[in-house]
Amino acid sequence: MKFGHFDDHKREYVITNPKTPYPWINYLGCEDFFSIITNTAGGYSFYKDARLRRITRYRYNNVPVDDGGKYFYINENGKVWSPGWKPVKTELDRYECRHGMGYTQITGEVDQLEAEVLYMVPLGYHGEVQRVKLTNHSDRKRSFSLFSFVEWCLWDALEDNTNFQRNFSTGQVEIVDSTIYHKTEYRERRDHYAFYTVNEKVSGLDTDREAFVGLYNGFDAPDAVMECQSRNSHAHGWSPVASHHLQIELLPGEQKELVFVLGYVEVPVADKFVQNQVINKAPAEEMIAKFQSSADVDRAFKELTAFWDDLLSVYQLEHPEQELNRAVNVWNQYQCMVTFNFSRSASLFESGIGRGMGFRDSNQDLIGFVHQVPERARERIIDIASTQFEDGSAYHQYQPLTKKGNDAVGSNFNDDPLWLILGCDEYIKETGDWTILDEMVPFDNDESNKASLFEHLKRSFYHVVHNLGPHKLPLIGRADWNDCLNLNCFSETPGEAFQTTENKEGGVAESVFIAGMFVLYGDAFVKLCEKLDLKEEALEAAGHIHAMKKVVDEHGWDGSWFIRAYDHFGEKVGSDEREEGKIFIESQGMCIMAGIGLEDGRARTALDSVKERLDCEYGIVLNNPAFTKYHVQYGEISTYPEGYKENAGIFCHNNPWIMIAEVLDGNGDAAWEYFRKICPPYLEEISDLHKTEPYVYSQMIAGKDAFKPGEAKNSWLTGTASWNFYVISQYILGIRTDFDGLLINPVIPKAWDGYTVTRKFRGATYRIEVSNPDHVSAGVKDLVLNGEKLDDMLVPICADGSVNQVKVVLG
Ligand code: BGC
Ligand code: NOJ
Repeated sequence: MKFGHFDDHKREYVITNPKTPYPWINYLGCEDFFSIITNTAGGYSFYKDARLRRITRYRYNNVPVDDGGKYFYINENGKVWSPGWKPVKTELDRYECRHGMGYTQITGEVDQLEAEVLYMVPLGYHGEVQRVKLTNHSDRKRSFSLFSFVEWCLWDALEDNTNFQRNFSTGQVEIVDSTIYHKTEYRERRDHYAFYTVNEKVSGLDTDREAFVGLYNGFDAPDAVMECQSRNSHAHGWSPVASHHLQIELLPGEQKELVFVLGYVEVPVADKFVQNQVINKAPAEEMIAKFQSSADVDRAFKELTAFWDDLLSVYQLEHPEQELNRAVNVWNQYQCMVTFNFSRSASLFESGIGRGMGFRDSNQDLIGFVHQVPERARERIIDIASTQFEDGSAYHQYQPLTKKGNDAVGSNFNDDPLWLILGCDEYIKETGDWTILDEMVPFDNDESNKASLFEHLKRSFYHVVHNLGPHKLPLIGRADWNDCLNLNCFSETPGEAFQTTENKEGGVAESVFIAGMFVLYGDAFVKLCEKLDLKEEALEAAGHIHAMKKVVDEHGWDGSWFIRAYDHFGEKVGSDEREEGKIFIESQGMCIMAGIGLEDGRARTALDSVKERLDCEYGIVLNNPAFTKYHVQYGEISTYPEGYKENAGIFCHNNPWIMIAEVLDGNGDAAWEYFRKICPPYLEEISDLHKTEPYVYSQMIAGKDAFKPGEAKNSWLTGTASWNFYVISQYILGIRTDFDGLLINPVIPKAWDGYTVTRKFRGATYRIEVSNPDHVSAGVKDLVLNGEKLDDMLVPICADGSVNQVKVVLG
């Protein structure tokens, strides 16, 4: 069952039934000011950091699930409704929510009165602009009231959710004409305030929630709206809000447009006040002046559209299957921008107060984003590397506002350092910017202790070499990519966090997955050394990789697949010897991506085992058989119900590793089948089962052992986005970035006739037409650049600004 449809031309998903199986959200903003908005106008805004600079309040885990947001209410002679259906939930004659690239437009209509609200964060603007278009489609004059509503958050979202004894006395606002300023804590240490305004005279205002809503009402029936009368309340403590009341008259056919702005302002400390207690509003006024009319909104909207035209034009596919075009050209790339911006911080499943930017996550997010805004990827790499320790180890995450690492979710995840090599490698391949390796980057954010980024990569590499276990495999530390495989934790205490507890200190558990990673990204490090002409360095590193391969051959192979790890007692994890968790996906993907077993057939055997034991209707599950018992020596993974999360859920993030493995084995049909199975636009028809948005990936789909296989959770903020874009764009469609050009090597289903990719790369444009007359999976028979046949598969870098024709014939 569907709840809407794709509008491909406008790059929108159009929701036509407000009762989606779960709130379906969008993100506004792509620089500093952000909002999350659901299809019924729920959600919140923040500046840079969803925890430390939360601007409006949102209650997670609420009943109903999505309550609180940027609401508008219409009261026409006692009939009250909201354009987004919620919160009032009056049946609408027409409802539509269009989630687009950085904006959302929600339209409702009742009795031929239409209200369309466009929510957007203009480029370079620290605020959300809301344009309300009211149209009278009837042939009678209409008089009604419009109320706006937002609820302020007292800045630190965690404090806001917990410290009520204090919060209920601290809230402060100022009101000037139609503008409500939220200035809680401003007179003390804060240098920022927020405001909410409308470009018209109001007939009333409210800033105190209890006055506006009433203590015993919900957002669905605020007193002021129901009685059509603002209270003109001035908040002192309790819960400051902002609501405008406008009385509107519309003649038959008439339309009225209003512009609301929710803004964030920072003021230099010396200029904070114009007099005692009176805040300096000049910067806010300047912001407001930019959005005085609907034409201003149109202009900003055009700029935003052009911005996305440009971003998305870097990689465009023309393929007979529209679902694939949608994924590749629009939604997958869009999600990559979102994951790049937010890491794992703020969605409907990430509360904004839990995790910040992940060391491993952000490095992986980069690989699906670097082609869009390489300069931002560069900055991110430096930020991440700046949190690394001298011995190469890393904080697991850092806070986006401070950019400083913290231990809140644990540290010593021994895979973390290696992901930095992946991030840098992909950045250099996209841009050719080798200077990044010379950047001087601090350790642990200590400006007095710096080394080149290259040195950081070297420390990443040697962190593995210096931390080997009894089999000479890498020590796993707290966990590797799988946060829940906590092999040194041994927790028997309720409430102890698996990721921050280590009861077997100096634990000896080892990871075959990190071994595969070391071979793969270690090899990338060696290639960087070679390019830099650091022969000795390259040779030494290659020696370590060679040794690691031998160890994997000796201790990493179980007979039909790669072992996953060795536990504290030296027992195999992910082996046929075990009763539960015999086989895991991660080591199959990583070892084969590293090339291990490709030549001697073990890769094929392992992939056949994946197909037989891990694959199911909705994707590839993480492990099998699922754990049904708590194994204290495995940790969190064995605590989850079967089929969910890391315990045999379809953890979409690592499905692409198997796709790449199939590609490397030349098997385009298998790679494509796996890709298609989890690719959102192909799941639109089962939206009722799938539950989450059909335009973006979710972290997890319940696996075959689950109560409800196929049901997804944790949409948006997942490494799934970047990995799937990476696999489809670079491995299946086969347009790979390389140091000196584009490597063309498609591995596709045999049935495909061909497709065209337009790729902008290092200043030139390449129009790459792939044809498959012999219906093969792989093998480039002919590669012609601007009429000239090339000898190998590398399309060299062409002149800046040139447009080049590339013809690829498979066979
Ligand atoms: C989840 C993981 C997540 C981790 C982060 C675990 O409970 O299952 O997916 O990465 O928490 O702390
Ligand atoms: C989600 C985390 O963000 C990611 O870092 C981790 O690899 C996966 N969970 C698997 O545990």
